[in-house]
Amino acid sequence: MPNADSTKNKTYILAIESSCDDTAAAVLDNDKTLSNVVARQAVHEEYGGVVPELASRAHQQNIVPVVHQALKKAGITKEDLSAVAFTSGPGLMGSLLVGTSFAKSLAMGLDIPLIDVNHMQAHILAHFIDEEGYDKPKFPFLALTISGGHTQVVQVDSYFDMTILGQTLDDAVGEAFDKSAKILGLPYPGGPLIDKYAQSGNPKAFKFTKPKVDGLDFSFSGLKTAILYFYQKEVAADPDFVEKHRDDICASIQYTIINILMDKIKKAVKQTGIRQVAIGGGVSANSGIRKALKDAEAKYGWKTFVPKFEYTTDNAAMIGIVGYLKYKDENLQGSGYVETHARAQSRLKF
Ligand code: KG4
Ligand code: ZN
Repeated sequence: MPNADSTKNKTYILAIESSCDDTAAAVLDNDKTLSNVVARQAVHEEYGGVVPELASRAHQQNIVPVVHQALKKAGITKEDLSAVAFTSGPGLMGSLLVGTSFAKSLAMGLDIPLIDVNHMQAHILAHFIDEEGYDKPKFPFLALTISGGHTQVVQVDSYFDMTILGQTLDDAVGEAFDKSAKILGLPYPGGPLIDKYAQSGNPKAFKFTKPKVDGLDFSFSGLKTAILYFYQKEVAADPDFVEKHRDDICASIQYTIINILMDKIKKAVKQTGIRQVAIGGGVSANSGIRKALKDAEAKYGWKTFVPKFEYTTDNAAMIGIVGYLKYKDENLQGSGYVETHARAQSRLKF
C-alpha cells in the first residue's frame, strides 16, 4: 500500500465505464494502467442482443465490487485518488446513469475532480496508454473506430481535436457481425465467434456484394439482408447447410466486412495524405482486421497501430487515459471540481 510520501507526485485516476453491457473500472498512475477490471454481463446472451433495462440493473449490482477490485488490484485506497473519470456518452441512458451517478457521488465525497469522457474519443486515445514496447501514434493520424454502436473514420489532429471524416449511414460494423451471427444461429455477441470459425474457413467460398457508398461513409444493412437471403435460399435446399459450411460462411462474411473497411481506410489515406492508421473499438479485436492492417504496413508503407487486446472491447483504462490527459491539461484544471464537458464539446468537432 503506498504511503503519503510515495504518492506525492502521483496522479491516480479512477475510471468508470458503463455505457453498454460491460461494467468496468480501472486505475491509472499517470498514463500507466495499474488495474483494468471488466464484469461482462452474460444475461443478454439468450436474448440475442443487449436488453437495456437488464444492463442497467446488472451495472447496479456490479459497480461497487468492480470499483473495489480495481482499487485493490492497483494497491491503493480511494483516499489516494486524484480524480474520477467516467463515460458520459454515447451509450444506453440507463447504463450511463449508473456509472455517472456513482462517479459523481464518489468525486463529491472525496472532494476531488470529476472528469467526463466521450466513449468514442476514449477508444481512440486508448493508444496513448503507456505500455512497454508500444509505439504511440504521432499527430495527425487516422483512426478507424469500429464497435457495436459506431463505425467512423476520424482524423486526429491532437488529443482533443478530432474530425469525423466518414461514418456508417445505418448499422455499425459490430452489428453487422452480430446480426450475421444471429442469422446463423450463433449466440450474442456473435462477432468473436465469426472470427473464431473464420480462421478455419475459406474466405472466398461465398461471395457477398459490397455496398456502394459515396465518400468515406459506410453502410452495413444491405450486407445483413444479403446474408439473410443467402441463408434462406441455401437452407431451403439443404437444411444442414450451415452446419456443413459454418467455417466457410464465417470466413466469407468476415472477408467481405474487412474489405469494406480497408477500402474506406485506403480512400481516407489517399484523401488526407496521412499514412498513420490506428484502429479502436470492439471490432479491432478481430484477427482478420488486425492482420489486414499489419499487411498494409508492408504493402503501402503505412504505420499502423493495433491496440493491445484488453483495450479493444469496452474497458475503463481507455476512459482513464482520457481522464488523465484532461486532468493534466492545465487549461482544463481549476480548483475543486473540473467541469470539462462544455469545453471538451466545444473543442471536439464530433
Ligand atoms: O467497443 P465494444 O466493446 O462496445 C461498443 O462500444 O459497442 O464493441 C462490441 C462489438 C460487438 O459487436 C462485438 O461482436 C464486436 O465488438 N467484437 C468483434 C470481436 N470482438 C468483439 N467483432 C469481430 N471480431 C471480434 N473478434
Ligand atoms: Zn465501445
